[in-house]
Amino acid sequence: MKPSPTFRAPGRVNLIGGQVDYHEGWVVSLAIDRDVRVRATARADARVIARSAAFDGAVDIAADGSDDPPATRPDWGRAIAGVTRVLAELGRAPVGVELAISSNVPVGAGLSSSAAVEVACALALSDVAGFALNGGELARGAQRAEHLATGVPCGIQDQMTSVCGRAGHAMFLDCRMLEVEHLPLPPELSVLVVHSGVPRTLEGSPYAQRRAESEAVAARLGLRVLRDATPDQVREIPRGRHAVTEMERVHAFAEALRGRDLDALGPLMLASHASSRDDMEVSIPELDALVECLVEAGAYGARLTGAGFGGCVVALGPVQSTGAIADRATEQYRARTGLEPTAWVVRGSAGANRSG
Ligand code: GLA
Repeated sequence: MKPSPTFRAPGRVNLIGGQVDYHEGWVVSLAIDRDVRVRATARADARVIARSAAFDGAVDIAADGSDDPPATRPDWGRAIAGVTRVLAELGRAPVGVELAISSNVPVGAGLSSSAAVEVACALALSDVAGFALNGGELARGAQRAEHLATGVPCGIQDQMTSVCGRAGHAMFLDCRMLEVEHLPLPPELSVLVVHSGVPRTLEGSPYAQRRAESEAVAARLGLRVLRDATPDQVREIPRGRHAVTEMERVHAFAEALRGRDLDALGPLMLASHASSRDDMEVSIPELDALVECLVEAGAYGARLTGAGFGGCVVALGPVQSTGAIADRATEQYRARTGLEPTAWVVRGSAGANRSG
């Protein structure tokens, strides 16, 4: 018998560009070397059956996408039902499939574990049915699946990064044009992700509210999105000021990576964190403390990553001392907050693919 193919999709870390993807802005992100894997076996009936190594129970839904995603049980199956429905709407034939899902992307950390599940399952379901999507379609499909499944109005950066990553590279992503520029990560630089020990899920966070507040600024200015706002228009409006200055920082960060100007990266990350904290109000004291501990320990810069309100901070540092920086920072943070942080060094990885 032919072995069942496996599909993988990585998590991601946003290096800079917070709360701007839904304004069709620019971000610099990194597909990381932690991923979701899905083994897919075709079934003779028209059912999609999914099992997860991390969760109990099996999801059993119609392959034609007729099951309502938010009503799907167990809970983790909502994403599978979302993907199944979106693909059916795009024209996938209702071919049955058995999905065996495993993941080493931390959940509730801001590393896009759910986008990775959706991208990997979308690839698996498409492949089994001989249905082909290009990268942009796959990312948009996975994003829509998340909207359908959880109601969280996420932007496009998580899915695009998971689909389009390249090993050893960060990605400069234009969220309007869905254009990607791969930027080599200098070998002397390492990327450290530290979980604050404060869990959060997007669903339970004020993410949707912040997004609505930020979109209200665009509406007030007569714009569809803040990508089209000028600095003068938002100077006195904190939510708008965050978006516009953050997009400027993203451009400066990408330019610094292109020119290997490592000294410029840290201050841009710190300015991004300050703006996320003060103007966008998506930080919490624990994330602020963790950023401070990392910088005191020798990181070039650090900022909250993902939606905020908990989860992870990302830091850049010199490759030869990352271990020492992580040790010092986590020790300090533990002493200051009583929380238990977890640190990982991550590397740029390839985007989603079929691996067997
Ligand atoms: C979450 C969303 C993304 C993005 C970030 C904030 O991770 O899924 O689309 O909006 O928050 O930058």
